[in-house]
Amino acid sequence: MAEVFLEKVNKIYDNKVHVIKDVTLDVKDREFLVLVGPSGCGKSTLLRMIAGLEDVTSGKIYIDGRVVNDLPPKDRDIAMVFQNYALYPHMTVYENMAFGLKVRKFPKDEIDRRVREAAQTLGLTEYLDHKPRQLSGGQRQRVALGRAIVRHPKVFLFDEPLSNLDAKLRVHMRTEISKLHHRLQTTMIYVTHDQVEAMTMGDRIAVLRDGIIQQHDTPLKLYNDPENLFVAGFIGSPSMNFIRGTAQENTIKFGEITLNIPGRVPRQDVIIGIRPEHFVIDPEKPHFAAHIEVVEPMGNEIFLYFTLAGEQVVARVPATHNVRVGDRVPFRIVVEQIKLFDPDTEKRIRF
Ligand SMILES: Nc1ncnc2c1ncn2[C@@H]1O[C@H](COP(=O)(O)OP(=O)(O)OP(=O)(O)O)[C@@H](O)[C@H]1O
Ligand SMILES: [Mg+2]
Repeated sequence: MAEVFLEKVNKIYDNKVHVIKDVTLDVKDREFLVLVGPSGCGKSTLLRMIAGLEDVTSGKIYIDGRVVNDLPPKDRDIAMVFQNYALYPHMTVYENMAFGLKVRKFPKDEIDRRVREAAQTLGLTEYLDHKPRQLSGGQRQRVALGRAIVRHPKVFLFDEPLSNLDAKLRVHMRTEISKLHHRLQTTMIYVTHDQVEAMTMGDRIAVLRDGIIQQHDTPLKLYNDPENLFVAGFIGSPSMNFIRGTAQENTIKFGEITLNIPGRVPRQDVIIGIRPEHFVIDPEKPHFAAHIEVVEPMGNEIFLYFTLAGEQVVARVPATHNVRVGDRVPFRIVVEQIKLFDPDTEKRIRF
């Protein structure tokens, strides 16, 4: 059992750099929470504060209902896996995994039991005698995970543990970590700047920008119901398209196009957000036709790039469409899925 709760947590480095701003965040028992955001937004700082490796300037951090602000890292019952998991090169896989327990003076047979169990879980049993240099990148990363698992911590913290691996291995380890979470049923907090990792791994995702939580919800809710322009643009690949326009009553206008929307908005300038899959090729009832500038076949689907109301946009269509550069393609917009944003506050305008 381990809940993690952050209450109005702030971090100011050297009395001047305010990097974490009033972060309140609850991580439920056994939840896999992904903390995602661009480089420099404060993800590692937040994780290090939970681990106790960094002081909290103000606010409280609770683990299992207990304030841990003044608790040293070793007493927090947390294990952290970093991007640069330095394994001890002169030790075997077994010794690397056993090391932390040895230092903590665990009995030998208990260490042995835990290391073998973790090795089994991670598929490392046949490598226990190997040295790190005899392992592949993915195997080394698994040893780093093993070192954390043997501690049987209440909470696992991961700081971009897969970013040093090549793309294919990263996808593989992503599913391995998800499986591990199902098997261990332990609370996990996972930091990444990769929104695909966030979407595929998280029970819930917290999006961080400039030290402020933008939205904290399930992956689908973030995708379908973003609170602001930042979340809308950050989650999803290719990104949501944004077009400047105006709204009035139940219509929106951009370029030459006027659309009816299922709701009402006071007259104002808006940013219109359209996901690539919400441009549908439709010769029967098109809203507009576009000259295709770039075609990117992805195998199961095609990305089509064109200009709409002065903006470069992308549509995602099934690969059954045969479209070539220079073609004039009729598109319908799935109007029910349009999102509107205030250009000044960047907040979602609901209608
Ligand atoms: N020890 C420190 N002293 C002063 N400023 C720091 C310190 N550590 C980090 N910062 C600053 O705090 C901000 C957040 O850094 P942090 O490492 O938490 O970002 P991040 O989201 O993990 O980024 P990345 O994705 O690149 O790892 C950055 O602007 C960074 O320069
Ligand atoms: Mg970081």
